[in-house]
Amino acid sequence: MSGTDIRRVGIVGGGQMGAGIAEVCARAGLDTLLCEANCPAATAARERIAVSLERAVQRGKLDRSSAEAALARIMATAELTDLADRQLVVEAVTEDADVKTSLFTALDKIVEDPAAILATNTSSLPVMRLGMTTGRADRVVGLHFFNPVPVLPLVEVVTTLHTSADVTADVTEFATDVLGKTVIHAHDRAGFVVNALLVPYVLSAIRVTESGFATATDVDRGMELGCAHPMGPLRLADLIGLDTVASIAVSLYDEFKEPLYAPPPQLMRMVEAGLLGRKTGRGFHTYHREERPGSPG
Ligand SMILES: NC(=O)c1ccc[n+]([C@@H]2O[C@H](COP(=O)([O-])OP(=O)(O)OC[C@H]3O[C@@H](n4cnc5c(N)ncnc54)[C@H](O)[C@@H]3O)[C@@H](O)[C@H]2O)c1
Repeated sequence: MSGTDIRRVGIVGGGQMGAGIAEVCARAGLDTLLCEANCPAATAARERIAVSLERAVQRGKLDRSSAEAALARIMATAELTDLADRQLVVEAVTEDADVKTSLFTALDKIVEDPAAILATNTSSLPVMRLGMTTGRADRVVGLHFFNPVPVLPLVEVVTTLHTSADVTADVTEFATDVLGKTVIHAHDRAGFVVNALLVPYVLSAIRVTESGFATATDVDRGMELGCAHPMGPLRLADLIGLDTVASIAVSLYDEFKEPLYAPPPQLMRMVEAGLLGRKTGRGFHTYHREERPGSPG
């Protein structure tokens, strides 16, 4: 099997990332099966994709018949066993080592083709550790997309000490030739390339507000207007999801023991309080309903 032979794809987790990955797969013409934790979540994930496709139509990025055809290629389920016939499964559930580990153990038993590839969209957890919970660590790889997936062109392909060279080549070909993304390769270290550089910057911005040195609005305005960043670091943290930012910081700190990666107390308190950024409507900034993921507009 080569990357361009992959036609049946499964995505596990239909949040911001899983829904986005399913959308780009369907837009690329693939038979796409999205698996969520339960039926209401599966339905909500498909609706989130429908809203995103409609937004692409409204913005002139996609014609209506292509959007309808893409949506028709996406099936949503709450049964993991439905993924049995998939050639590639991309895991995009919550950034939690226990949840991901038990999922990979289950997928290993469910996905029938021994040549199938099991990929994770984890931002920071060791990919090899997930691979080693399966009997096919050589077929487990990191496929790290960026948010929003239909818009951002980058994918990091993360190879572990066990990943076979064929699998790395196949997913690279899949991401570039089938999905139209641009790939960079990274070794299996927490944060890979982009988050290892980005997250310490975001954490520094949080420390600036935590110390009372500047407001969140001024921090963001400073980086947007002074450095021409399209989005300041705290708006970016809100977009990523503060729970995800905290999990990445914990993994980075766990791996490298560098103080710059330690999650600031303010971040952990906000996560505990359920203030997760755009997806819950409030983080460092407040978001109206139409600004939240999956909302029209
Ligand atoms: N948010 C980002 O900017 C970003 C970017 C790149 C990678 N990631 C990674 O992608 C993954 C998902 O992040 P997200 O932002 O989409 O999170 P999210 O909170 O938006 O979505 C996570 C989804 O996983 C589902 N889920 C949890 N357990 C499940 C299970 N056992 N089976 C099926 N579904 C399950 C939840 O119901 C939820 O819908 C994480 O590993 C994260 O680190 C996130």
